[in-house]
Amino acid sequence: MDQMGDLRRTDYCGTLRKEDCGREVVVCGWVQRQRDLGQLIFIDVRDRTGIVQLAFDGSTDREIFEKAFAIRGEYVVMAKGTVRIRDSINHEIPTGDIEIYVCELRLLSRAQTPPFEITSGTSVKEELRLKHRFLDLRRPDLQANILMRHRVVKLVRDYFDQQGFVEIETPTLIKSTPEGARDYLVPSRVFNGKFFALPQSPQLYKQLLMLAGFDKYMQIARCYRDEDLRADRQPEFTQIDLEMSFAGQEEVIAVNEGAMQYIFKEALGVDVPVPFPRMTYREAMRRYGSDKPDIRFGMELTDLTALVKQTEFRVFAGALAAGGSVRAVKLPGGASVFTRKEIDKLTEWVKAYGAKGLAWTRVTGDGTSSSFEKFLSETEVRAIHEACGLQTGDVLLVVADGDDETVCTSLGALRVETAGRMGLIPKGEFRFLWVTDFPLFAFSQEENRYVAKHHPFTAPRPEDLSKLESDPGTCGAIAYDMVLNGAEIGGGSVRISDPSVQERMFRALGFTAEDAQKRFGFLIDAYRFGAPPHAGMAYGLDRLLMEMLELDSLRDVIAFPKVASSAELLSGAPDGVDEAQLKELGIRLEADAEKK
Ligand code: AMO
Ligand code: AMP
Repeated sequence: MDQMGDLRRTDYCGTLRKEDCGREVVVCGWVQRQRDLGQLIFIDVRDRTGIVQLAFDGSTDREIFEKAFAIRGEYVVMAKGTVRIRDSINHEIPTGDIEIYVCELRLLSRAQTPPFEITSGTSVKEELRLKHRFLDLRRPDLQANILMRHRVVKLVRDYFDQQGFVEIETPTLIKSTPEGARDYLVPSRVFNGKFFALPQSPQLYKQLLMLAGFDKYMQIARCYRDEDLRADRQPEFTQIDLEMSFAGQEEVIAVNEGAMQYIFKEALGVDVPVPFPRMTYREAMRRYGSDKPDIRFGMELTDLTALVKQTEFRVFAGALAAGGSVRAVKLPGGASVFTRKEIDKLTEWVKAYGAKGLAWTRVTGDGTSSSFEKFLSETEVRAIHEACGLQTGDVLLVVADGDDETVCTSLGALRVETAGRMGLIPKGEFRFLWVTDFPLFAFSQEENRYVAKHHPFTAPRPEDLSKLESDPGTCGAIAYDMVLNGAEIGGGSVRISDPSVQERMFRALGFTAEDAQKRFGFLIDAYRFGAPPHAGMAYGLDRLLMEMLELDSLRDVIAFPKVASSAELLSGAPDGVDEAQLKELGIRLEADAEKK
């Protein structure tokens, strides 16, 4: 006989309804609260489906009544009883019409008082919650998120299976091929001094699967990237990864629009219209100052460059002389939210995006105040007001810089930040967008070389092939991102399937022939054995869920997430290891690192 004796659950707490009245049921779960009213005791029991009320009264067996009396919050109990209509209906919960009149009660586990209350929408510090994540996960809102994650993964598998995709696992102890984020390394015991890397994505293996003839592949894949964390980044995260042979951009786009339509309908009951709108990377940067524009609201940027070409204002003239631009974003009705003090704060805030300063105009009923109009001619001021449609109540923010991209991205960041603070971003709307025609390379100031904008296996536009070495900065890629409400939820590309182009690509990225062969030779050589044209993409599953549930943090859709320092607070990882473990791996720590 185990702890539960002859009792076994017949029903989940949250599923009982009026129609169950008269039934004898057994439920189990955690005690939400116990209310002792003298002659009456009520206990709310919670499981992952909801809460149900247990009732005990004067007619309850004395021993059971006393047991109920001693029950405290978070105790684990099992109760048998008859479902009946409650005296006072609770309209707040789905089981609020009924209660279980208990005839048997089993205390399965006592509980210490938890460090925070187990309820929805807590204001408890996240650090404390993460330290006790198993308690945090008992909260109904987090439970709902995790259950939605399960549902979405199931729908993803169903959909891609219906579309003829094969799910294949790829290894997670792989060769380090640094390009992109930093790798997590795993030392080898057998080969002392050598390392495996954890995959940043299954990219290389899914390409090899196309060479192997699997044609349509998908995987729910764990990925690892040692990069600085933000609210939308975790060091380990999950991709919905896919690849298709004999297919290009249009086939990938079509199958994935279908995927989103299916998942949103089944999981949220939301109709997603297809095809999604598309925008080139250049257009997105120009209009929204972002390669992942949130198109739930307007506030598009205005280019003022042509209007201030002749200006004597030092800041604008300097930016233009350096080959840059002057652009603006209008905050409609922003004057009531953004006082001069708030604008000063924005000026500091936007410096993180590279802007060196922020010029502004504020139009109120009392007149216009501006940080820069006094330096311009009347004609210039009028032209700017007209171009931006500036009206009473508005604020105009202007950035000038020698680097146009800095101007766009800093204004793009201001656009989203200020729209949020003005309450202009609608809730409950899902606006998808494809951003296409990305540049092939981005110049890295840090490394003083071109790096791949997407990854080094992305196909250049055929018309740009001849410029790969001579003018990499202007080469375009056949790459696309899926954007939802201003978040990049997925990205992919057509791949290079000609090994000689792949070799040229590595050369353009600054690899010597030997280096490219050493690192990626296995891949380049594989393409010499018959390679189909192929393309694919990967979603960030965590990001997709975060957007579906309209949450602000990836941590809320991950059962055991990591914090910004990349630590996992519950178990205390990362942690030191025994000297013996290190010895086996042939690793000696530097003395000062050891002390840290
Ligand atoms: P990419 O690097 O764009 O492409 O990644 C695909 C998607 O994964 C999500 N993502 C992340 N989510 C959480 N935390 C992170 N640190 C993180 N990094 C990325 C994003 C992103 O759009 N192999 C290619 C895909 C391909 O070409 O098929 C790749 O990994 O939502
Ligand atoms: P200054 O003469 O430096 O005080 O600049 C005059 C105005 O131009 C101030 O409001 C500055 O904030 C603004 N300004 C300075 N640098 C920039 C810039 N890079 N872009 C836009 N405005 C700027």
